[in-house]
Amino acid sequence: MVVAREVVDAVRGARRLAVVTGAGMSAESGVPTFRDAQPGLWEQYSPEDLATVEAWERDPAFVWAWYLWRFERVRHVEPNAGHRAVAALAGVAGVDAVTVVTQNVDDLHERGGSDDVVHLHGALSRFRCASCGAPFDAPVALPHSETERIDPPRCEACGGLVRPGVVWFGELLPQDAWDRGLAAVEAADVVLVVGTSGIVHPAAGLPVVARGAGAVVIEVNPRDTDVSDVAHHRVRETAAVALPALVEALLRG
Ligand code: OAD
Repeated sequence: MVVAREVVDAVRGARRLAVVTGAGMSAESGVPTFRDAQPGLWEQYSPEDLATVEAWERDPAFVWAWYLWRFERVRHVEPNAGHRAVAALAGVAGVDAVTVVTQNVDDLHERGGSDDVVHLHGALSRFRCASCGAPFDAPVALPHSETERIDPPRCEACGGLVRPGVVWFGELLPQDAWDRGLAAVEAADVVLVVGTSGIVHPAAGLPVVARGAGAVVIEVNPRDTDVSDVAHHRVRETAAVALPALVEALLRG
């Protein structure tokens, strides 16, 4: 694909870049998004039904097994060309700082080579006690399907139930991650917004903050979203196509 000249020029003129990502970033690695039409769990359950404290309290075995299924799936997929291109942006065309601010709970940005990654919604692999918060590092039994039920293990410190290290609807984002994410978009010259529907707050507010702080906002998403109107430029392509094309255009000079 050919990336529009004004997009390439905007990134070329930037020293600090922030890349705000959502589930679409990992879609081409084989990790399903939450809200695109697809077979599977989200046909029957909306994220708001399952990823909540209420769902956990009602049926911890179901919620635990579903996250473990996702955890297992993520372990067996690879970063895609989009993740690698995000990492490659650091150092091309005068860009000297790239901060990834992701809503994703997978580790594909890190495995794709990015070294400054802020996880707004936590990380699948960071299990912790739901009662005392102690981290839990022991091996866990993995499900064979996404609808299997598995009782969560017990905390070795207090006996409480162990839960996934993710943020659920109704919970606050980790303060440190939010502060770092906000600081990154406020300091950025250009903010790329990749693969998010822009409907879950407060993350969905970051493009607005970025624009208000003077950044050029560029959306990479095959479809229109709730944050499209905030963007100065819209690249209607997938992450694994658009981002490598952008890096290539920057390297060509
Ligand atoms: P969504 O599933 O809401 O949106 C995915 C977005 O990715 C859509 O706008 C798609 O058009 C776009 N998309 C799909 N394939 C793509 C591709 N190959 N390249 C680029 N874009 C693509 O996912 P999020 O916006 O990440 O929160 O959802 C936000 C939050 O809702 C998640 O972090 C999660 C969920 O509930 C929690 O669990 C707290």
